[in-house]
Amino acid sequence: MPNYFDGSSDDPSIIKFEDILLPDHMPDELGHRDKELQVLADSIKPLLSRRTPDNLFLFGPSGCGKTTCVKYILKQLTDHSSSVLPVYVNCWENPTQMAVYNKIIEAMRLPLPRRGLATDEIFSRITEYVKNYNKPILLILDEMDGLRHDKLLYVVSRANEQKLSFGIIGITNNKELLSKLDSRVRSSLRFSDMEFKDYSEEQLISILRIRAEHALVPGSYDGRLLTKVARSVESGSARVVIERLWKSAKHAEKAGRSKIMLQDVEDVASAEPSLKLSEYNLSSEELLILEILKDGELPSSKLYDKFIAKIPKTKRQIRNYLELLEKKTLIESEDVEADGMLKPKIFRLR
Ligand SMILES: Nc1ncnc2c1ncn2[C@@H]1O[C@H](COP(=O)(O)OP(=O)(O)O)[C@@H](O)[C@H]1O
Ligand SMILES: [Mg+2]
Repeated sequence: MPNYFDGSSDDPSIIKFEDILLPDHMPDELGHRDKELQVLADSIKPLLSRRTPDNLFLFGPSGCGKTTCVKYILKQLTDHSSSVLPVYVNCWENPTQMAVYNKIIEAMRLPLPRRGLATDEIFSRITEYVKNYNKPILLILDEMDGLRHDKLLYVVSRANEQKLSFGIIGITNNKELLSKLDSRVRSSLRFSDMEFKDYSEEQLISILRIRAEHALVPGSYDGRLLTKVARSVESGSARVVIERLWKSAKHAEKAGRSKIMLQDVEDVASAEPSLKLSEYNLSSEELLILEILKDGELPSSKLYDKFIAKIPKTKRQIRNYLELLEKKTLIESEDVEADGMLKPKIFRLR
């Protein structure tokens, strides 16, 4: 038997530091977002002297640097001062009021009693901390459309009215979200909004150039290749172009070459599904629903049956997945006219 490791050298031919090409890499420098970073810093500054901050609502398409800019500014904030407690929460992962409170408690390093506390109790612990330590909280609600309901914002807005310093930065791809919030919440939190626009082709190329310089072996790519990568994607998403560069590099390495060719980019691009599902971070349950709806619309009952045949879940759980997909605007539903109490729905892909 041959040794299957024979012939493979440990020296990377193209990719030197793969981490740098992965989505959660935090670049040392963020180009093209000076204005946005300045607005972020200015809105946070009042918290440093315990004054009321400007709450911010950031919106813009996926991959345009919203999360990265906010994390970058939080890093600068904590380097500069420890007088504010920043708490970053991804709301898709932490959709309930309790989940968000837990993230705050975690950041405060508050020991909590073993027995569970009720939501109100937890929130009073949080406000006590803010008062006792005189340490304002900056709450980042990323993917804010993932929050199940407005209750959390309502509670926080009430705290703000009682002069407890709570800054909020909400982030979403969905610019309608702000107008959909409860009007009391909106008027009390007085969000100012900031739009992140798609990157232009030149901006994408310059972002790619810096990534490539750090992550790839010199000589394994050239400027023409980076232009090709930037042009091969339809959106202005930095996430998608970086991912495309990474996949092209892997594709070339797999073919045993030490240089990425234009053809690698084309091969990778044509293998990509037209809908960039990877951008949505879908669970296998959500993917199953999309698969089921591919052949056409279905009433909920049929959809449940097909789903349960593949993955055993309760109707309630399936409804949650449907709700998520609707929020992500991947599917839509319509109420069906019916006499009975139960209002059936029809679901279809968008
Ligand atoms: N200005 C930039 N410079 C360098 N990399 C960037 C820039 N903007 C975005 N990126 C990269 O693009 C990817 C997507 O950015 P992200 O902040 O997650 O976008 P969003 O939150 O708007 O969907 C991340 O890997 C990030 O590092
Ligand atoms: Mg993001």
